[in-house]
Formats: sequence, structure tokens, C-alpha cells
Amino acid sequence: MNKRAIGTVPLIYPVPIVLVGAMVEGRGNFSTIGDAAIMGIRPALVCISMNRTHFTTGGIQSSNAFSINVPTTSQVSVVDYCGIVSGKTINKADLFTLFYGDGGAPMIEECPVNLDCTVEKEIQIEHRCIFIGRVVQTYVDEKFVDEGDERTVAEMPVLDPIMYALDNRYYRVGGVIGTGYNEGRQYRESSRQDG
Ligand SMILES: Cc1cc2nc3c(=O)[nH]c(=O)nc-3n(C[C@H](O)[C@H](O)[C@H](O)COP(=O)(O)O)c2cc1C
Repeated sequence: MNKRAIGTVPLIYPVPIVLVGAMVEGRGNFSTIGDAAIMGIRPALVCISMNRTHFTTGGIQSSNAFSINVPTTSQVSVVDYCGIVSGKTINKADLFTLFYGDGGAPMIEECPVNLDCTVEKEIQIEHRCIFIGRVVQTYVDEKFVDEGDERTVAEMPVLDPIMYALDNRYYRVGGVIGTGYNEGRQYRESSRQDG
């Protein structure tokens, strides 16, 4: 085995950085979150892992709703800022133009993609509050939705999300290298021919 054990590092990389929004004490608040993931497509489920002391966490618990706002690389400074200051002392709602859907959590107009979520389940592990959310609606900037078919969203390099890795650096996504449920078929065909 040509491996070195490096400790208990959740080294799945990279992950998109998102701004998680919630209503807290009557106003919108946003926290920068790297620990966000898809938990299913049908039904549309997502998961976020929040420190229980964050201002946003209390808002999610009391409103049972949150938003996931996916920023673009030009927003890296404000995104990082939302991760180093707390809504306990700074009004982060003033940084953005907000809009609301049926879920009730504040969403950020300036982010190209927004997920309006309700809390399906909360799991507490040590100091983490892990929220599983049901996506009640997804919003995408008009300019990133293909004409005539609302379900066709621009490719990832166009949406240009901010990726974050465990080296504590931000990245942008690269190019397309294949298509899901397709590359394996080609592999299957070529391995049949070889056999
Ligand atoms: C790059 C980056 C990633 C972060 N990821 C997480 C995360 O996944 N979970 C978490 O609880 N806090 C995370 N934080 C920290 C919170 O964003 C930060 O503590 C924030 O100030 C909390 O804001 P609030 O108190 O207004 O909710 C991250 C911060 C940065 C800069």
C-alpha cells in the first residue's frame, strides 16, 4: 500500500461555498458555509452543517427555514466577510438585495442561484447542528436559464461558483470532462470488445 494515514480529514474536494440565509430576530442574516451538500434530487434534499453558536443557526431553529445562496467568483470578498463577522454584531442583510419565496427565508438577489428550503430534520452531533432541508423552490438568474426550457440552466463554468478546499483556499471550476451515466457505457462497450 502506497498510502500515508493523515488523520481524520474529511478530504472531499472541492465543495461549493454558499451563503446560508435565515430570519433571525426579525431580519435576514447570512453565514458563509462550506459544509453543504445535496442529499437527493427527487425529493430535492440538501444538508448544511452549522456551528450551534452561529447567529444564523438560532434563526433556522426558530423559523424552520433557511436559504442556500450560491455566489459567483466575483463575490469572493463579501462571501469571506460573511464568514468572519457575525450577525450578532453586524447587519449582514444590508450587504445584499433580499427577496423571499414561500419558505420564508431571505434570499440574495445578487447570487445567481438560490434554494428556498424548509427544515426536514435537525441532527445534533457535538457542537454541530446538521439541518436536512427540503428545497421548496429553486431560483436562477434569468440570464442563466435557457430560452424556452426553464429546466436548462447554464453550464457550471458560466455560473462560475466559488469552490472551497481544505487547504483553506477558494477556487473556480474547470472544464467539462464527460457526461454522467454515459462515460461508463462507453467503457462497458470497449471492455466488451476487448474481452
Ligand atoms: C470559508 C468559510 C467556510 C465556513 N464554513 C462553515 C461551515 O461549514 N459551518 C459553520 O458552522 N461555519 C462555517 N464558517 C464560519 C461562519 O461563516 C462564521 O462563523 C460566521 O461569522 C457565522 O455568522 P453568523 O453568526 O452571523 O451566523 C465558514 C467561514 C468561512 C470563511
